[in-house]
Amino acid sequence: MIPGSTPVDLAATPAKARRRHLLDLEGWSREALLALFDTTDVMAQVMQRTIKKVPALQGFTVGTLFFENSTRTRLSFERAARAQSADVISFAAGGSSVSKGESLRDTLRTIDAMQADLYVVRHHAAGAPHQIANWTDAAVVNAGDGRRSHPTQALLDAYTFRERFEGFDGFEGKRLAIVGDVLHSRVARSNVSAWTTLGAEVVLCGPRTLLPAELAEQPGVTLTHRVEEAVEGAHAVMALRLQHERMASGLLPSQAEYRQRYQVNSERMRLAHPDALVMHPGPMNRDVEIEGVLADDPRSVIEAQVANGVPVRMAVLYTLLVGSR
Ligand code: CP
Repeated sequence: MIPGSTPVDLAATPAKARRRHLLDLEGWSREALLALFDTTDVMAQVMQRTIKKVPALQGFTVGTLFFENSTRTRLSFERAARAQSADVISFAAGGSSVSKGESLRDTLRTIDAMQADLYVVRHHAAGAPHQIANWTDAAVVNAGDGRRSHPTQALLDAYTFRERFEGFDGFEGKRLAIVGDVLHSRVARSNVSAWTTLGAEVVLCGPRTLLPAELAEQPGVTLTHRVEEAVEGAHAVMALRLQHERMASGLLPSQAEYRQRYQVNSERMRLAHPDALVMHPGPMNRDVEIEGVLADDPRSVIEAQVANGVPVRMAVLYTLLVGSR
């Protein structure tokens, strides 16, 4: 429960409110995802220009509200807003009046008084961006809530696959293997939504304690505890960090045993499709969940994922603020 909030029933969030926010990817159609990728292509062209700036969001203010740490997501949203000439106000809980006991609601009221048009929200509590969406007239984008959802990460991951997979001819018939701490991963849950909607299959792999069985109930998703089985024939292999900060003790064997059984490495990648991409949402712990040399291998698109975060988020901001007008 978020201090100062009332319980939020996600299922009861009005459909109208959900349409003007990006809180999760449930309810997004394949066509809507592909249309966003087309808008991203236009934004990517802007980012290739010498002057990486267009006036598309002039007069709009984007607020980044980060109640949990971030490097990639916060910076790329701010870059995406400024590249479209929006003003940006930034809030990070560390160093703010949250440490003096100010509630989430009062914090939001304070920032809302400065009249932003859209908030990008990251919070350790699942549902916090949904709660904020009920308190403000501004649009809200979920930049990661607890272990629940990280929609723009999944969008940029799928976009990167579409851009980088050799001879890409659609998501149908493709398979993404996600290996690691699936239990605590909002990235895994959002990627399951995005990739299965787009027509791909997703294989989730990890130790029994880090692989929730209910995820297998979704069409297009399978679970395995054997990394070789997950990687075999996969078109993309995504390694996930062990989220020790969200982990109770006893969920893991020793780190050495985890590395031996689940590390995504060059030897295991031999089992994958010959053109398979190596992915990681970051931050990564080299030589734990991913072999360090593999992260720097030509098959790795980890830096492309970060780079694509900017045009994908430009497309999200543009679509929510201007696209529907
Ligand atoms: N992938 C991701 O969300 O990274 P950050 O925590 O650095 O934003």
